[in-house]
This record gives sequence, C-alpha cells and structure tokens, in this order.
Amino acid sequence: MAAVNPIRVLVICDTGPVQEQVTAALGNQPDFQLVDLLTISDRLIREVRAAEPDLIVVDHMVGGQSTLDLIDELSSTFTESSVIAILPGEDSLRAQQVMLAGARAFLVQPFTQVNLISTLRRVRDLDVRRLVTYHPQSAMEERQRPLRIITVFSPRGGVGVSTVAANLALGFQEETDKRILLFEGKLYFGHLDVMLNIRSQNTLADLVPHANNMDDSLVFDVITRHASGVHVMLSPGNIQVAQGIRPDDLYNVFMGVQRLYDIVIVDAGNSLNENSVTLMDAADRVLLVATPDLAALRDASRFIQISKGLGYPTEKMLVLLNRAGMLGGVRPQDIETVLHNQIFAHVADDNANAVRSINRGIPLLYRYPRSPASKSYKKIVKQLNEMSVTEVTTSSYGTPSQSQREALMASSNLG
Ligand SMILES: Nc1ncnc2c1ncn2[C@@H]1O[C@H](COP(=O)(O)OP(=O)(O)OP(=O)(O)O)[C@@H](O)[C@H]1O
Ligand SMILES: [Mg+2]
Repeated sequence: MAAVNPIRVLVICDTGPVQEQVTAALGNQPDFQLVDLLTISDRLIREVRAAEPDLIVVDHMVGGQSTLDLIDELSSTFTESSVIAILPGEDSLRAQQVMLAGARAFLVQPFTQVNLISTLRRVRDLDVRRLVTYHPQSAMEERQRPLRIITVFSPRGGVGVSTVAANLALGFQEETDKRILLFEGKLYFGHLDVMLNIRSQNTLADLVPHANNMDDSLVFDVITRHASGVHVMLSPGNIQVAQGIRPDDLYNVFMGVQRLYDIVIVDAGNSLNENSVTLMDAADRVLLVATPDLAALRDASRFIQISKGLGYPTEKMLVLLNRAGMLGGVRPQDIETVLHNQIFAHVADDNANAVRSINRGIPLLYRYPRSPASKSYKKIVKQLNEMSVTEVTTSSYGTPSQSQREALMASSNLG
C-alpha cells in the first residue's frame, strides 16, 4: 500500500543500468514515489520544478556531459529539495566537488538497493528536520525549545575546533544540570581523548553493527565518562576501522546516541564531506570557528557561502572567532566585513595556556578557569543555553525526533 505522503524522488540519468537499478529499488518501497526520470534538455529546470521532487538523484554523466554544473544549479535553484549524486567509483576529489556543488550525499557505484534507500532516507530525514525547524507552516503549532545539538566545524584545520567543542561541553556540564554528550564526529585523527586525558578501547565504531537496533545500555557501555561528568563518544583511533564507517553508519549511530542527551556538542573536524554535512544538517546551530588570519577568514567566508547552498538559514551559522586579539591578527571590524557576517563570540588568544591544557589533558575551563579564554567560554555557554529554536509539535511529519526514529525503524526493515 502506498504511503500517504510518499517521498518524491526525481532521477536524472541516461537509460541504462543506473536507471534500472533506481527504478527497481524505489518500486519496492511504498514510502517512495519515483515522480520522473529525466535526461538533459533545455526544459530540464522547468520539468524538475513541475515534478516538485523532495530528492533529486543525478548520475555523474548524462548525455555525455559531466553533471557537476547541473548539481550546482539544481541545489541553488531548488533549496528545499536535496541532490544526491551518483559517482562512478571511489574518488575523494570528485566526492568533494559534488559536495561543494551542493549535493547532500553521494552514492558510489556499484551500490546496492539497500545503500540507495538508506541514503535517500537519511537525506530526507535530515531535510524534514531542517524544514520543520526553520520553516514551520502556519497551520502547524509552533513551539520553542532550547538548543540540543551544536556542531562545531571549521573548513580549516588547527584553528581550535576540538578545543572549543571540549570546553563548551565542560561549560554546559558546569552551568546546567543537563545530560551532556561530546561526540567526536571527526573520524580521522581525532584527538579528544588526548585533550580530555581519557583512555578507552570503546569508540563509535562499536555501535555500527547495532546502528539499527541500539538499546540504551549498549550506548552507555560504549560511552567514555570524563571526570567532569560529560559523556564522550570517541571516534576510532584506527584509520582502517574509520574507513569502514559509511556516512549512513555514522548517521544511524549519531541518531541512536543523541536521543539520550539534552545537549550534544559535536566536534565535526575540518573537512567538508558527507559526514560533516550530515552532522551539520542534524544541528540546531553550527559554530563556525575561525582565527583572525586571512587564510582562515577566506576559508570561513567561502564556507558561509556554501552553507547557503546547503539551505542553512543565516541564524543557524554562528561565527566564533578563536584566538581573538592574536598578535598581528586582523581587526574584528575588518573580519565582519570579510565574512559579511557578525561575529557571534570571541575567545581570547591564550597560546601558552591552551598548549599547556592540551599537554596536561585538562581543558582550559578547568585548568585556568579565570583566564580570559575560560571567561569567554562561560559566556558562550550562557548565550547558547538561552537560545531556542522553533519547531512544530503537530504535523504530518511528526516532530523531527519522531521522524528520525521512524526512519531508523524503517531502515532496519530493509532486506
Ligand atoms: N584560545 C586559544 N588561544 C591560543 N591558542 C589556542 C586557543 N584555542 C586553541 N588554541 C591552540 O590551537 C591549536 C589547535 O587547537 P585544536 O586542536 O583544538 O584545533 P582543531 O581545529 O581541532 O585542529 P585539527 O584540525 O587538528 O582537529 C592547539 O595548539 C591549541 O592549543
Ligand atoms: Mg580537532
């Protein structure tokens, strides 16, 4: 039986195996509807608009042409639909290009029907969350709720993402009586264990085999407890293990774990890829960390542009200027001009204490609570704690977390 509001999928590809595979996979899923199959033509954009798709699947080549520019055009024209790219094989450069062009996810050939459906479901589920949180329809009842998921990210490495994430988690633990999780979403070369001086063999990789059926006790077995009371979900220290974690796995583990906490602070690292986009999609706010040097500011500025292509409303992105006042740094008013964005918060430059904190495994906020940087962290926690997001309480989608649970349950039924 067809679902009441099936997920509308439009596919742009040539006739051939990809078309057959996608058609067959969607034909087996009552909650998906294949609304159109298109190839490149002058009327393409009009035809896409007429089909009103939720998801647009685009093959890497159509009619002998690369579809990179098309992905760019589709994602900037149809901001409430999401583009999923099909790539011919493992190619990290091409994968990054399609993400920069605005694709939400990609599928690498050869893929199975299960891969396809779980990717489509994940992307749609995050879209629903995004749409109902930021564009509640007037007929639905709106409700304000505190922020729950805060993702810290920078397109540039080494600017302080992990320092910010760890100190904010500790700050929330100190300031509130909420249950706090620090989630290491940077799968390669994560270093939260060093920063927090915690040792554990357990990582989020242990939850991957149970991602569709994760009971609470299993999560609490895998979590590492920091002396502050913050729970930490570490990423695997082993690169081969990290390589085996697909974006769907990370998403399912994240969704299974986050529901057990009031506040989740995510260290999303510094590369723009499907994993970091997923963790930013899931967030109520993204803290974009930059330092006052031109290279970091240029990357941050580019990322702010990209975030618009990802459909993030302006209020979702908060610029955090780390190492503010750094000797020779760019002045704050010039930074706002470069970024075309206001700075949400500053954390003072304090190199000696920051390095000592990392080396001792005691975050700034605990080791030097009266330092200017720690005072900034306390202020940021207060600000974030007072912020809220609008979401709908009654809708055909259900609340985001319900829809996430449904998606998890549905994907567990895939054959
Ligand atoms: N407020 C600060 N003042 C001065 N130095 C700082 C400050 N915050 C962080 N640092 C320093 O910046 C360096 C990078 O910090 P951190 O490891 O948190 O960055 P990151 O963005 O997570 O890096 P990576 O890209 O490697 O994950 C560290 O040496 C840290 O001590
Ligand atoms: Mg880091």
